[in-house]
Amino acid sequence: MHTIDNISQLRSYLWQAKLDHKVIAFVPTMGNLHEGHLQLIDRALEEADLVVASIFVNPLQFGPGEDFNGYPRTFMNDQEKLLSRGCHVLFAPTVEEMYPKTNLSSTVVKVPHLDHLLCAATRPGHFTGVATVVSKLFGIVQPDVAIFGLKDYQQFLVIKQMTFDLCLPVKIIGAPIARAESGLALSSRNGYLNEQELHQAAQLYASLTSCRIALETGKFTMPELEEQAQSQLEAIGFKRDYFTICRQSDLQPAGPEDKELAIVAAAYLGKARLIDNIRFSLN
Ligand code: PAJ
Repeated sequence: MHTIDNISQLRSYLWQAKLDHKVIAFVPTMGNLHEGHLQLIDRALEEADLVVASIFVNPLQFGPGEDFNGYPRTFMNDQEKLLSRGCHVLFAPTVEEMYPKTNLSSTVVKVPHLDHLLCAATRPGHFTGVATVVSKLFGIVQPDVAIFGLKDYQQFLVIKQMTFDLCLPVKIIGAPIARAESGLALSSRNGYLNEQELHQAAQLYASLTSCRIALETGKFTMPELEEQAQSQLEAIGFKRDYFTICRQSDLQPAGPEDKELAIVAAAYLGKARLIDNIRFSLN
């Protein structure tokens, strides 16, 4: 595996692959890799001849007071994991390489209709930071395909919309959520939890699945179910952010006529903010 930290070196390396008509798949990450990330690499290998992963903790997507400085950085470990999973190229630029001016980025990419609700309400500017860095990375790597995890479902929709609106020639693929045996969605931020909190954290996924089952009985309204789930999570130590039954296509609140649904949730536990979701069709 080649590790490259420099845009022009990466471009010259990929130039030959493009001349050879190789299909390039791209997996952007912020590192501290776990099985969820590595399954994106597996999917990328199925799609392409050459797989490029990136590790870049993007300052533009962290708000003031968020965990940019404390975000877990485990570069050597990550490099080994990518190598043993069969990744071909690792792009790991510095902040200066990605944002050469001190004001980070003067051009930003904003996806307005997804930029005020759910995670965007709690983390203003977050998705603009994500969309901006991903469009820069797409410009650098120029992949044919890019793989994103459905764990960050709002992020996945933001990237799909941005790619469509900007006519970027990249196919966006969503990969299933990798979970621990307890049901907890794997996340780099799970490392902020102690053993007891890790145990409690599995209740977030449990609350999503119970909510779906209760919804299918038709006995409760959606606001009732959302409130029940939030109170139950609070009772076991979570602090609430959101728990919403919405339309899978655009994350707008679901109405009785909607059948393609997502239940999306974010909640604080200890030092971590956890997010999770399930997507399904209502019969
Ligand atoms: P990061 O949190 O490192 O996640 C990188 C990719 O891994 C994202 O597509 C995310 O959805 C996926 N992922 C994380 N946990 C997963 C899990 N349990 N199952 C499946 N996929 C999972 O998301 C980011 O970084 C950044 O915002 C980024 C897109 C790299 C832009 O900076």
